[in-house]
Amino acid sequence: MPSDLNPPTGIPEPTSGPPVVRPAVPADAPAIAVILSDALRAKYRPALGARALAGLAGMVRDDLSSGSGGFLVAELDGETAGAVHLATAESRPGDGFARRLTERVGLVTATRAMLVLSLLRPDPLAPDEGHIGELGVAEQARRRGVARALLDAVEQRAREAGKARLTLWVTGENAPAIALYEGTGFAAVRRRRWPVGRLVFRASGIILMEKRIGGS
Ligand SMILES: CC(C)(COP(=O)(O)OP(=O)(O)OC[C@H]1O[C@@H](n2cnc3c(N)ncnc32)[C@H](O)[C@@H]1OP(=O)(O)O)[C@@H](O)C(=O)NCCC(=O)NCCS
Repeated sequence: MPSDLNPPTGIPEPTSGPPVVRPAVPADAPAIAVILSDALRAKYRPALGARALAGLAGMVRDDLSSGSGGFLVAELDGETAGAVHLATAESRPGDGFARRLTERVGLVTATRAMLVLSLLRPDPLAPDEGHIGELGVAEQARRRGVARALLDAVEQRAREAGKARLTLWVTGENAPAIALYEGTGFAAVRRRRWPVGRLVFRASGIILMEKRIGGS
């Protein structure tokens, strides 16, 4: 059948360009928030409920405006397709985080968010550690190497910052993410049972994964 008889579907043709990763700028905040609030809804729904998008957009914008440079974005054919955040001991959220969140989402939601997110707060970061706190890829862009490209770039950035290892927490139920991390050189270093996590995030266990990236 001639292809011009196929009706237009409105669905963009898949393209083959490789993901392009770059440091995020403040104008990326809305797109990053859309991707993370969707990809990480198991985390941000319990924390921020219906205000997840607004709350996240504000938090991302704060991070980007602070100049800490923790976010990287990946583009596929000019569209934002994924984002990752690198935290270090030097770049923890500054003073005024709770106040700014309250201004954006109201006191009740902000209080709930602080409480819920504190359940996920990693141990204080060591000087040699780069910590991946957020990684998300838009659903329509998955399995095209976006996360792998973001992890490569974040590793390079952590190495340039003098870090010797990358760490992250992943829930035991998240098979795609565990496959991604194992395939990119991370290994489990600690497993925690997580009764509160089962209640709040529907995840019964959480795994600390680590990758040595250089140094001593
Ligand atoms: C996990 C996630 C980030 C992967 O993003 P992605 O861009 O689709 O991943 P990539 O295309 O770079 O995949 C790299 C490798 O990871 C593994 N992988 C990725 N998704 C997988 C899946 N659904 N099932 C099994 N393995 C998977 C594969 O080994 C894959 O290599 P392959 O495609 O050559 O087989 C994405 O599914 C996502 O955003 N999930 C929701 C958010 C999340 O869980 N974030 C991590 C929190 S710790």
